[in-house]
Amino acid sequence: MFTPQFVQPNLQSVGDSTFPVTSVSISPAISIRRYRTQPQQVLSILGDESALAPVVASTEIEPGVYEGGFTCWQGSEALCRYLTTLPIAGKRVIELGCGHALPGIQCSLMGASKLVFQDFNEEVLRLATIPNLALNARPGQSTASLFDDALFIASSWADLPAFLQANADVPHLSQYDYILAAEVVYRESNFESLAQSIISLLSVSPDGQALVSGRVTYFGVGGGTDAFSAFISSKVGGNGEKVLCEEVSVSENLDENILKITLQR
Ligand SMILES: C[S@@+](CC[C@H](N)C(=O)[O-])C[C@H]1O[C@@H](n2cnc3c(N)ncnc32)[C@H](O)[C@@H]1O
Repeated sequence: MFTPQFVQPNLQSVGDSTFPVTSVSISPAISIRRYRTQPQQVLSILGDESALAPVVASTEIEPGVYEGGFTCWQGSEALCRYLTTLPIAGKRVIELGCGHALPGIQCSLMGASKLVFQDFNEEVLRLATIPNLALNARPGQSTASLFDDALFIASSWADLPAFLQANADVPHLSQYDYILAAEVVYRESNFESLAQSIISLLSVSPDGQALVSGRVTYFGVGGGTDAFSAFISSKVGGNGEKVLCEEVSVSENLDENILKITLQR
């Protein structure tokens, strides 16, 4: 297990990534730029001593070591498209299991006031999340001011609630309007820690809602938004509140959707 930590953006290096850049069209008005973190290049940067090196080279996910953060998954684009329908300007946002972080970046482009990005792997935050955010400054926004309003946390979900509580005095780390998570409900053994992270974030966010996008069922893996919806709906908030979970968007062929989770107060 890793010790949870803040990851500081290195302003000198964020513009110098060796990865090629690609652009993801979210709407006629919005495109998000991101780096293509190809395994061979990731490997050459991480070096052979990194615990991630053998994993990144050979597989998409190795439970408890590397959870797929260098791949940009489809559910993150679907969540971005849904976010274009919401009032985001001035809002406080946290993205869990962010990886390439398209939804958090979408919120930044729409004028969110504070952004927190969490991922399991510090390397993913350093090589994908942080450089991607730097690629997407708003017109007139400097990289320094973009990062003034952002925090990056490397942590497992199991450790996140205690880490946030221990750092409650850190500016930005309280009261979220949107708790975002794309493609994170693929394994049932993660449901408890993910659900507890979401519920503890909602408990300190009187107007908060969580938006979780993903596949209704991940065949062969066991998870899915259907199973997660049933799981989190059986929980209660920190003050005994009922957890409400509804589907707010579904793909044309019905195999992917977005859940909205709130606490009934
Ligand atoms: C399939 S990837 C999705 C990445 C990104 N949200 C996307 O849609 O492109 C799952 C992400 O969740 C994070 N993750 C998985 N299990 C985790 C855990 N137990 N604690 C914290 N983060 C976790 C991984 O590091 C990874 O970035």
